[in-house]
Amino acid sequence: MAIPKDPRVAEEALQAQAASLVDCRKCALCQERTQVVFGAGNPVADLMFVGEGPGFNEDKQGEPFVGQAGKLLNELLADIGLSRPQVYIGNVIKCRPPRNRDPLPEEIEICSPHLMEQIRVIRPMVICTLGRFATRVIASTQAPMSAVRGKAKELEVAGVPVIVFPVFHPAAALYTTANRGVLEQDFQKLK
Ligand code: URA
Repeated sequence: MAIPKDPRVAEEALQAQAASLVDCRKCALCQERTQVVFGAGNPVADLMFVGEGPGFNEDKQGEPFVGQAGKLLNELLADIGLSRPQVYIGNVIKCRPPRNRDPLPEEIEICSPHLMEQIRVIRPMVICTLGRFATRVIASTQAPMSAVRGKAKELEVAGVPVIVFPVFHPAAALYTTANRGVLEQDFQKLK
């Protein structure tokens, strides 16, 4: 039987982890970031979202998915009767890459253990990976998003049994109506 999750214990563990990363200098992204964007939401969420890494707005505000892609994520959540405080939102890398370039393999390697620690604390039932970087790290797959999106897979991630559900990154749906339709359908399945 699963041990019940204690929100206070989880919150404190996440706060301690976030505090330990405030001055992280393990990779070169520390040079241009405004701040580390640790993650936000319910510390015992059953549903966790994992994105790629902070962009311009996230770097300024210190919270994941607060720009245009975040606005779309909020709408997709609302469509299935959820709001941000009910879920947890994190990223593969916690500092903004210059000019929003893709994260480098070494940056992912250095930073993803922090994501794994977040997963160990939160112990979500479902991890919805947003886009290819999160899907590669969480589902350990190199398959293209078009092949894996919208398909649930039972996996053990960071020692936690979870259902991994990859979807397109919301940014990929901002200017492509077809992608938005696919994302909306996948969120209905997520529900
Ligand atoms: N895109 C991401 O992958 N993560 C964010 O936090 C914002 C945009």
